[in-house]
Amino acid sequence: MYYSDEKIEEVRERNPIVDVIGSYVHLQKKGANYFGLCPFHNEKTPSFSVSAERQMYHCFGCGAGGNVITFVMDYENYTFQEALKMLADRAGVELPKEEESAEMRREQDLRSILLKIHRDAATYYYRMLRTEQGKGGLNYLKKRGVSDEMIRAFGLGYAGTHPQALYRFLKEKGYSDQALRDSGLISIRENGTGDKFWNRVMFPIMDVNNRVIAFGGRVLGDGEPKYLNSPETKIFDKSRNLYGLNYARRSRKGCLLVCEGYMDVISMHQAGFTNAVASLGTAFTVQHGMIMKRYTDEVILCYDNDGAGKKAAIRAIPILKEAGLRIRVLSMEPYKDPDEFIKNLGAEEFQERINRAENAFLFEMSVLRQNFDFGDPDAKSRFFNTAAERLAEFTDEIERNSYIEAVANRYGIDFSLLRGKVNLIGNRAPVKYDAESPGLPERPIGRKNRDTGIQAAEKLVLTVLSEKPEFAAKSGLTAEDFRDPLMKEIAEAFLSGGAVSPGAVLNRYIDSENYARAAELMSSNLSETMSSEELEQAFSEAVRRIRSESIDRRMAVAESPEELMKLIKEKQKQYVRPPS
Ligand code: UTP
Ligand code: MN
Repeated sequence: MYYSDEKIEEVRERNPIVDVIGSYVHLQKKGANYFGLCPFHNEKTPSFSVSAERQMYHCFGCGAGGNVITFVMDYENYTFQEALKMLADRAGVELPKEEESAEMRREQDLRSILLKIHRDAATYYYRMLRTEQGKGGLNYLKKRGVSDEMIRAFGLGYAGTHPQALYRFLKEKGYSDQALRDSGLISIRENGTGDKFWNRVMFPIMDVNNRVIAFGGRVLGDGEPKYLNSPETKIFDKSRNLYGLNYARRSRKGCLLVCEGYMDVISMHQAGFTNAVASLGTAFTVQHGMIMKRYTDEVILCYDNDGAGKKAAIRAIPILKEAGLRIRVLSMEPYKDPDEFIKNLGAEEFQERINRAENAFLFEMSVLRQNFDFGDPDAKSRFFNTAAERLAEFTDEIERNSYIEAVANRYGIDFSLLRGKVNLIGNRAPVKYDAESPGLPERPIGRKNRDTGIQAAEKLVLTVLSEKPEFAAKSGLTAEDFRDPLMKEIAEAFLSGGAVSPGAVLNRYIDSENYARAAELMSSNLSETMSSEELEQAFSEAVRRIRSESIDRRMAVAESPEELMKLIKEKQKQYVRPPS
């Protein structure tokens, strides 16, 4: 949806920055400005200032800065559109509605009815927990040491023993059978209509905006299945939701702790680890990874200390890496899961384990190690061969050597012997991966030659330009949009307007340490491997990416509200597909 400049201005003006930020951060007036603790980094003395006059904020500690819209974008991790929508709602500004098809409207209506049903159901279960009938549920939670505060924060409840209790309650509220069926909470059949959950402790699953979108229900004590979960519905997509993320995203602890279950999340939050989330027994997806990447750069896996937990970690590592996250793995030894661990050893010891959580590569090595019997010389040497193959994937020499050293020390082999082996493999098959993607023995994700996102985009654009100089004009890029200094230099040559031969450009680097990189860039021939349509598509996607990053960089240093507004608008245009 594209909004006019006037509309955006109106939304901004109707949301005074001090009021909006003041609802998130405690602000105190000092002179002309307001000060508070910066929500974007950890600090003890306020260096975050908000100016009513300029309608801007700035943090002297971490450099964060912007206007009311960028504040909401950063704080809530919203896109521009989402932030604008929220601020418009807040101030009662009507945004022009997208032309909706009847189909889309029906879909939207259904979603909002399902959300209402879930909200009502959550309230129902929550109240039920405090009734006579819910005693068993409350006792169960108490027995497991869940505090009242956590019961409230996570909205825990109880599904009563009557098999139609929720159905009747919701019917009374006027929901249709069809909507109730679509909610997944009620099964409506000819031979009997009934609640999906009964006699269970209820865990509402919330989205990042604290809306209940599904439930998990646990039996009191032993029984099968231990947990029953909502099916996927129009509002619940398992591969996109993480239990506890609604709180964890605000914890600002620098990383997310990922565990398996409901109870683990609650125990961790109760012990002060408010950055804990759970994948709820489902396998990690790339979407999960990308969602987490919106909030953090590092993930610590706190999976169960058993075969299944280890396997889940091994499967999750490459997926999370794919999303650009750093990963460490926490050892729960000798306990089974975070819940048990914290109950037995306490929060301090758990923090200690977080600090000592193992690097994902070394964790993979230790899992690999268990497949080989070191008493058998043949098995032992096969282990080192496999390890060497993995080590050979590190392209950065220093990094490669430190990993070789770590593996050599840990598994008792001479460093230079192992390094010799690794280099032999390295020379045999040229290594294509960067240090961030050591991957896995079984590699569930395809091997790719990979620079990190923006680098790859810059490279692709320049490679295309070296083949097709006529693309330069329509890219709309300037050399300043490039981040990498070498790329910027080369872009300057290609974007200067005149005809440039790649050979001439390359000549400039003949004696430079950048020669190899420059050559690689200009000698690849994309049109041999891609159709011209694919090429154009890849090119415009890369251009979009470069431009959007470039705008972000300029936004970070923008000095005036006008400049910032201009950049925000420019950024907004990025999301609008050009008419084709
Ligand atoms: P666990 O069995 O480890 O759960 O399964 P837990 O949270 O530690 O359970 P208790 O209450 O402390 O004994 C991890 C997660 O896998 C999902 C649930 O999301 C659970 O939290 N699960 C497990 C199911 O969906 N169904 C099941 O039958 C079991
Ligand atoms: Mn458990």
